[in-house]
Amino acid sequence: MHVQGHIFVVTGGASGLGQQVTKSIIEQGGHVIIMDINSTGANEMVESFGSDKAYSSGSVDVTSEEQVKDAIQNGLCHFKNNNEELFLVGAVICSGIVWPPQSIEGYGPNNQLTSYSQFKHVVTINLLGSYNVAQQVAQVIMNNKPLNQDGERGIIITTSSMLGLDGTLVGYGTSKAGVAGMTLPLARELSNFGIRVMSIAPGPFDTPLARAIPGVEAPVSLFPKRYGQPSEFSDLVLHIINNSMLNGSVIRLDGALRG
Ligand SMILES: NC(=O)c1ccc[n+]([C@@H]2O[C@H](COP(=O)([O-])OP(=O)(O)OC[C@H]3O[C@@H](n4cnc5c(N)ncnc54)[C@H](O)[C@@H]3O)[C@@H](O)[C@H]2O)c1
Repeated sequence: MHVQGHIFVVTGGASGLGQQVTKSIIEQGGHVIIMDINSTGANEMVESFGSDKAYSSGSVDVTSEEQVKDAIQNGLCHFKNNNEELFLVGAVICSGIVWPPQSIEGYGPNNQLTSYSQFKHVVTINLLGSYNVAQQVAQVIMNNKPLNQDGERGIIITTSSMLGLDGTLVGYGTSKAGVAGMTLPLARELSNFGIRVMSIAPGPFDTPLARAIPGVEAPVSLFPKRYGQPSEFSDLVLHIINNSMLNGSVIRLDGALRG
C-alpha cells in the first residue's frame, strides 16, 4: 500500500510525533486530515503545507463521536472537491496525554495516588479516543474498492508506549496497555475487509510530551544514548504502511530501554 495520492487521518497532528507523521505523509505525496484538540497548531500545519495537502476542521476532541465523524466527513468533502479519485486509506493515531489536568485530584498522602477520576480521564483520551477514531475510519475504509491484488483497503496505526508494555504509571500505563492490547483483536475483526492494524510502542521521544513536567527528565535509551527523534517514529509509520505483511503486532521503538 502506498501513501502517494491517498488520504490519511492523523490525530495529534499539531505537535510532536503526529506533526512529524503529517509532514512525512505529505512529503510522500499523501493528504492529511489533522485531528487535534489544539486548533491553533492544526491550523498552522495547514497554513504551512497548503490546503490541498492538509485539512483541519478546527478543534477536534478524539473522545467525541460527533466531532470525529464531522472531521472525517468535512475532510473527505474538502479533498474530494479537488480530486474525486482521492480515498481515505488510513489513520495514524498519535493523540494522547500522560497526566490528567491538575484540576482533577489524586487521593492518599499528598494526593499522590491515582484517583478514579484521574484514571478515567487518561483512559478516556488515550484508549477510548483511539478506538473512536480507529472504528470510524475503518467504517469508511471498508467501503472502498480494494487497492491491490491482496484486497487491501487500508490501515490503522495506533501509538502505545513502552510504559504500557512494562507496567509503569497506573493511568497512562494502563491506557497504553489497552491500546497495545486492542491491536490483534482489531486486526482479526477487520481482516475480512483488508484493513491492517498495527501499534508502535515508543520509548522517550524528543517532543513536548517528554518534557511535560519541568525538572523531570525521562531516561535516554540504552543505545543509542539519547531520545528518539520524531523522524525515526514517522520512518517506521511509513514502513508499516508500505509493508503489507505487518499486521496485528506491536513494535517497540525504544533503543532497548525498559520502563
Ligand atoms: N514523546 C514520547 O516520549 C512518547 C513516548 C511513548 C508514547 N508516546 C505517545 O505518542 C503519542 C504522541 O505524543 P507526543 O510525544 O507527540 O506528544 P505531544 O504532546 O507533542 O502531542 C500530543 C498531541 O495530542 C493532542 N491531544 C491531546 N488530547 C487530545 C484529544 N482529546 N483530542 C485530540 N487531540 C488531543 C495534543 O493537543 C497534542 O497535539 C501520544 O499518544 C503519547 O502517549 C510518546
